[in-house]
This record gives sequence, structure tokens and C-alpha cells, in this order.
Amino acid sequence: MNPSPKFDAFDTLATMVAIIQHDGECLFANAAFENAMRLSRRAVQRSHLFDWFVDDSRLRDTVQGVARNAYSSSRFDAVLRRGSRSNGPGFGAEDLPVHVIVSQTEFDDLILVELIENAQQNRQEREERSFDQVQATKELTRNLAHEIKNPLGGIRGAAQLLAMELQPELLEYTQVIIHEVDRLQSLVDRLLAPHRHAQVVGDVNIHEVCERVRSLILVEYPRGLKVLRDYDTSLPDFRGDREQLIQAVLNIVQNAAQALQTRIQEGDACICLRTRVARQVTIGKQRWRLALELHVEDNGPGIPAEIRDRIFFPLVSGREGGSGLGLTLSQTIAQQHQGMLDCESEAGRTDFRMTLPLP
Ligand SMILES: Nc1ncnc2c1ncn2[C@@H]1O[C@H](COP(=O)(O)OP(=O)(O)OP(=O)(O)O)[C@@H](O)[C@H]1O
Ligand SMILES: [Mg+2]
Repeated sequence: MNPSPKFDAFDTLATMVAIIQHDGECLFANAAFENAMRLSRRAVQRSHLFDWFVDDSRLRDTVQGVARNAYSSSRFDAVLRRGSRSNGPGFGAEDLPVHVIVSQTEFDDLILVELIENAQQNRQEREERSFDQVQATKELTRNLAHEIKNPLGGIRGAAQLLAMELQPELLEYTQVIIHEVDRLQSLVDRLLAPHRHAQVVGDVNIHEVCERVRSLILVEYPRGLKVLRDYDTSLPDFRGDREQLIQAVLNIVQNAAQALQTRIQEGDACICLRTRVARQVTIGKQRWRLALELHVEDNGPGIPAEIRDRIFFPLVSGREGGSGLGLTLSQTIAQQHQGMLDCESEAGRTDFRMTLPLP
């Protein structure tokens, strides 16, 4: 065995990297690998890399070939096995298609394996596009909201004056006008809300935020709903507006609970709050060395397919009586913290991820 080389520099890479021996034993796995597998580094490093593949024959052959010096490097596509950890009912295995590159290193007995997520590229492009779209829509709604807001006061006042002149049996009509004006007024106020309040910046601990949200939601749903926590307690505090972040996370958790109605009645509804550290992340167009990820995962029916691409736009709702502003507000708050909110959803598993840069 060679003197143990330092591999820490690999932690700054966005692609997954593992250093293995010829028999597949994993000597090192970088941070990106650890994140993608959703496992601690110790768990990854004690294992055999071959075990992490759905079909490991190609990898075994290639590693042998590289070890024998038949070739110095080789590439192929494969599928990583992931999600063996149990997180409660409904969370299943989730495989990850990757492009694999196996190469020799300067040490005879060590082999470098790089894994590039096939979806990584697409996802980044999608995120950038959605970021721009959200900015444009926000601008539009804000202007529109202002335009609607201005005449509302006049309409309400006129209806009140009319009411004084009308026979009592016609009052019902002015009441409808006043009631609807008030409804519009509060809608418009909510549309404008995130831009009106100045941020109150202080030190924020993400787990305090999670715990507040957790207790609020458990008061609202005392029976049939489990709210699990899976925290990485090593996450540092960061500067932000605590109350706004609580609001942002609460909106997400509330949506999850609303989507879980049936399961809550059956008693096996489950929401998991998970925090993780992420390295070298791109948010919008900016790159950050360190960030935190807060996942809100539920085992509900998933977001209706018709609105899946548009849930962060204002007034998009799949819910009876929903105003479609909750996620818009959460996204705005995340962005005001230089972060972002995105989502993956399928039947049985919906995962909202809030990424916030860390100092
Ligand atoms: N965890 C989830 N599971 C299934 N569907 C979801 C989930 N989260 C959000 N959705 C869907 O996304 C829609 C938009 O959510 P959003 O919070 O923006 O608006 P809303 O909940 O309808 O109304 P509001 O939050 O303003 O009262 C929801 O109506 C729902 O259809
Ligand atoms: Mg909502």
C-alpha cells in the first residue's frame, strides 16, 4: 500500500469521485458522491463500490482491465443503486443513471472512478430557465397587482354610498360587491407582500426554523401525521430573516400536509425534514462553495402533472380553495436569501429542496 495520499481536493468538485482498490474497496468518496448517495462518508467508504451499482459486471470488467494495464481509462453508462435507507412509509429506492469514467492513478494499486449524473446537465439548464421565468413573472404580477389595487378603494366606496341610497332588498347586491372587493384586496396584498417588508437580518439556525415549523404543523394536524427530522447538526448558522424563512418553510410543509389528507385519515402520512450540506452549488448563475439543503419530503400523491412545471408561478393552484401564492412567496424568500427552491415529485414521493448559500 502506498503512503495514504490526500484526496480532499476532490471535495470541491461537482462530479462524484471515488478512489478504489482493484477489488472495489472504496478508500475515498468525495462530498458530491456522499450527497448523491444521501449517505455519510463513513458508510460509503467502508463499502465496496461494486455494491452501489445495479449491475456491476461492466464496472468489474473495466476495473480489471485498467488494473491489468489493458487501457489507462475507459467510459460507460451505468445505474447507481440509491435510497436503501428507510425513511418511513412510501420512500422507496431511487436509482441514478450515471456516466462512469474509470482511470489509472499514479499509484499502481489505486483506481479513480468518476461518476457524472446523466440528469445533472438537464437539471441545471432547467433551473436556470425557471429562475429567469420566475423573475419575469414576478415583475409582471407586481405591476398588475398595483394596477388592480388602485381602483379597488374607489369601487368599495362607491358601493357603500350606493347602499345608503338603495331599498333594503337591493342591499344584498352592494354587499356582494363589497365582499368581493375585500377578497381581491387581500389577494393583491398577498401578491405584493414579499416585496413590501424589509428584511430583518440576524443569525439564523436552520434547525430552529425547522423545529418551529414542525411544532406549528403538529398543532394543526395532531393526529395521523408523522413529521420526521433528519438533521445534519454540523450545519453552521447563517445571516437571514428568521421569520420569513419560517414562513417559507411553513408554506411548503402546509402544502405537503394538505396533499396528505387521505393518508392522514389512514394514519400513515409522513413528512420528513432533512438538512444536508452541499458543496460547489450553482444557484441562478452564481456559484457557492458551501450551501445548505433543506428537503421537505412527503409520501403523498405527488403534484398534479398538469401544473408540475408551473407551481412556483403566482395563482397556480391544484387545490380547491387554494390561491396559488404559497410557493411563489417561498421562492421569493429563498431568492432574497440568494437561494432557491425546487422540487421533484412523483406519486408517493414529493421532495421540495430549499438551497441556501452558507458563509
Ligand atoms: N407536497 C405537495 N404534494 C402535492 N401537491 C403539491 C405539494 N405542494 C404543492 N402542491 C401543489 O402545488 C399547488 C401550488 O401550491 P401553493 O402553495 O403555491 O398554492 P396553494 O397551496 O394552492 O394556495 P396557498 O398556498 O396560496 O393557500 C398546490 O395547490 C398543490 O396542487
Ligand atoms: Mg400552499
